[in-house]
Amino acid sequence: MAWWVLLFTCLLEGVALPSFTQCGKSGTAAPRGGAAGSASKRLSVEELVCVLQCSSSEPALERFLAPHLEEPSLLSLERLDAFCDPRADFTLTVAVAVWNQSIYWRKCHSDEDDGGCMQALSDQDTHRWLRLLYELLEVVEVANALFLVQCGDEPNMPIEHEERFPVFHPEGGHGFWNIPWLNPYQLKALQTGFLDNRTRPSSVQWDQKLPKAYWRGQLCGPNEVPLRKASALPRFRIFELAKQRPELFDVAVVGIDEELTTMWGKKAVKRLIRKHQVRFVEPEDLEVFAPKYRYLLNLNGVVSSWRLSHLLGMGSVLLLQRSQTHEALQELLEPWTHYVPLADDLSDLLGHLELLRNETLAASLAKAAQELFARRVRPEDTYCFALRSLEVSRAEVTLEALLQRGFEAAPSLKHLDEAWHPDGLRPLRQRLQSRAPSRDSSASASAGRGATEL
Ligand SMILES: *[C@@H]1O[C@H](CO)[C@@H](O)[C@H](O)[C@H]1NC(C)=O
Ligand SMILES: *[C@@H]1O[C@H](CO)[C@@H](O)[C@H](O)[C@H]1NC(C)=O
Ligand SMILES: *[C@@H]1O[C@H](CO)[C@@H](O)[C@H](O)[C@H]1NC(C)=O
Repeated sequence: MAWWVLLFTCLLEGVALPSFTQCGKSGTAAPRGGAAGSASKRLSVEELVCVLQCSSSEPALERFLAPHLEEPSLLSLERLDAFCDPRADFTLTVAVAVWNQSIYWRKCHSDEDDGGCMQALSDQDTHRWLRLLYELLEVVEVANALFLVQCGDEPNMPIEHEERFPVFHPEGGHGFWNIPWLNPYQLKALQTGFLDNRTRPSSVQWDQKLPKAYWRGQLCGPNEVPLRKASALPRFRIFELAKQRPELFDVAVVGIDEELTTMWGKKAVKRLIRKHQVRFVEPEDLEVFAPKYRYLLNLNGVVSSWRLSHLLGMGSVLLLQRSQTHEALQELLEPWTHYVPLADDLSDLLGHLELLRNETLAASLAKAAQELFARRVRPEDTYCFALRSLEVSRAEVTLEALLQRGFEAAPSLKHLDEAWHPDGLRPLRQRLQSRAPSRDSSASASAGRGATEL
């Protein structure tokens, strides 16, 4: 081993990293009796890690958990009591416990607040993450766990708050303790089968793609932006740029977020639309239209726009506007390798589109994004990420302690399915069964063959 490899290894050992179970470490990875996924015989975490070929690292969890790793567990019952204290007044957060392979939860915000975080039978986003956890618990034996999930668009655990509570949210980043977690858009991509279509990136060949920047979305912005700053919002600003170089853009709005009219009034919004010559079109199927364009813009909305799991798989170049906070997938991307970074105010957009006329550069960015999608945005990867988040949330809990604190059983998978009729959905159990490992093939051997898909 070269000296620098040793040095690097030593340095790494000094840094606390969450310990994720790896495939093939204990030598017991062969599924017991090949009955993968049957309810009576769950896989161990290591077996599932092997079967799913989970990556050994989850950069988003590693980076955002780092400040919490001195604690013996991410969240103890005592810390939970401090967080859920009505005087602490955090908004829209639910405490989730896994106990004996079942999910219990309780609301941690005051009763006047929206109950959205727990309305899994009527709130689509809550339903999606809860269902994903159930899919895992059906097939894998996990330790008891305790964690916090915040709903609502914007992360709410600001760094100024001196107590660092680890709170999962669809996005995290600069200025927040929140840990970017299962993102509703990525869950949707998984659960509707979008991620299963691995041939999409090649649906339109590079030289058939239009050399224009494509964007569709709602007209929206962060909460509490004063009207005088409206023109600086990316979803207005983009139309100024498109006016300067119309041949480079195909950008349009498909609707207006009600929050905008509530915030500024209908008249003001109308004026802004006229002033910026905002173009409106009917909603388009991203899957059909986006691959036709060489450049795909991602513009911040209320927070960052949660589209990475969709955009990475289009075989085109991503242009991502910088954002204080972002979804977990962003942690896998390198600027100028997988995407073109754009300044907050989009001042470099025209210049960067000019640079992308260099086809070698543009095609290599598109290819790198596509390769990352193939390698790291597999359906398996969403399950792996959720499994890792359960691993890091291991905690000592008893049913008694949970019930004392007002936890109740979350709606069961059966109830979720009755409410949502997820037609065509392939739950993890079914994915594993259809893989039907033969009796003698160990999971790690099949991992070695690579390219197995669920
Ligand atoms: C855990 O759940 C299983 C199956 O639902 C049940 O048989 C078992 O008794 C439970 N364990 C405890 C400690 O309640
Ligand atoms: C996969 O995506 C391609 C390109 O969008 C589409 O033509 C094809 O029908 C999709 N296949 C499935 C099974 O959805
Ligand atoms: C085009 O981009 C490639 C790859 O980044 C680079 O090596 C090359 O020098 C560029 N060509 C021009 C004319 O700038």
